[in-house]
Amino acid sequence: MESDGIFTFRRARPDDKEQVSRLCAKIWEGDDYIPRCFDEWVADQDGELSLCFVGEDLAGISKLSWMGPGDAWLEGLRKDPDLTVKGVGAALSKRYLTRLAHKESLRSIRFSTYFANHASIKLNEGMGFQRIATASFKEMDADAMKQRLQEPPTGDPRISMIRDAATALAFVQSSGWFGDFIHQAWRSYPWSENFFIHRYLEPGHCLGLLDNGQLKAMAVSLIDPMKGEGSLPFFDAVDAASAEALLETVERRLAHAGVPTAAAIIPPGGTRANGFLSALGWHTWEQEEDYFVYEFPLELLSRYRTVP
Ligand SMILES: CC(C)(COP(=O)(O)OP(=O)(O)OC[C@H]1O[C@@H](n2cnc3c(N)ncnc32)[C@H](O)[C@@H]1OP(=O)(O)O)[C@@H](O)C(=O)NCCC(=O)NCCS
Repeated sequence: MESDGIFTFRRARPDDKEQVSRLCAKIWEGDDYIPRCFDEWVADQDGELSLCFVGEDLAGISKLSWMGPGDAWLEGLRKDPDLTVKGVGAALSKRYLTRLAHKESLRSIRFSTYFANHASIKLNEGMGFQRIATASFKEMDADAMKQRLQEPPTGDPRISMIRDAATALAFVQSSGWFGDFIHQAWRSYPWSENFFIHRYLEPGHCLGLLDNGQLKAMAVSLIDPMKGEGSLPFFDAVDAASAEALLETVERRLAHAGVPTAAAIIPPGGTRANGFLSALGWHTWEQEEDYFVYEFPLELLSRYRTVP
């Protein structure tokens, strides 16, 4: 156990699942993804799922993950809303910053949040985090997903899995969708062609619509392995008809795979695709540009460097 004032901290263990789930059940009307990824998060020895206690009470949780070598990602920050004690979120974040301040070959410290999450924004901006990117969260309608279940899983015969990296990457480049990040299920991975190939192309997550040998539309669609959510990390088409045909197949596949809904987090470069998705029934919650990525300037880490 480590301590900081009234708070004590420790790495979560497998047998903490029940109390962590109980805490999460009080947040977002019980619709928190953390119980679904608890087992994987606890098993992550490179990162850490951390628990914060006040006395015997579990007061908060948070996860440190790695998006790639040197790219730290903070996620899953939660405080028990029934506790009146203040400073739980700040104490958990400060603990990670203190730890990362001593880490060699650190490249970045980032997290994402929703534009209207005032607690998260105030807390993290107060610690020194700066907003570095914005994207637009678009969700497929849950009723539309149910409707797709009534339809056969396959769709247009012009649609097939794309395996050729040069073809896929040429389409991605011409789309302009990706800037610095690939967003998937509330995480933002640094964009790189290698990442795209290894994570999406090779495992068979790229679907394309080929018309007379021309790639007219392409989508990356998968079920996020940790959160169990349907995810669309990339989608674009050269025209509305191709977009509609491909999206129909993507939606049917996701519906038959058993996800209740699916989401895309669209970077600013994905304006054309955003238009297609919106026209085809994917909606925003409150406004466009509602997904924020924050980064901690590494030069400020000295504030958190304690003498060992
Ligand atoms: C985000 C969360 C962990 C913050 O935890 P917390 O323990 O309440 O935060 P702290 O007490 O450390 O507050 C840190 C700062 O944020 C401010 N803050 C907390 N809740 C706030 C709110 N709802 N609106 C505006 N500011 C808020 C505090 O006043 C404090 O600022 P101050 O030091 O200037 O007074 C907690 O609100 C929570 O569990 N929310 C639901 C889950 C969530 O949204 N997680 C973040 C996902 S990105």
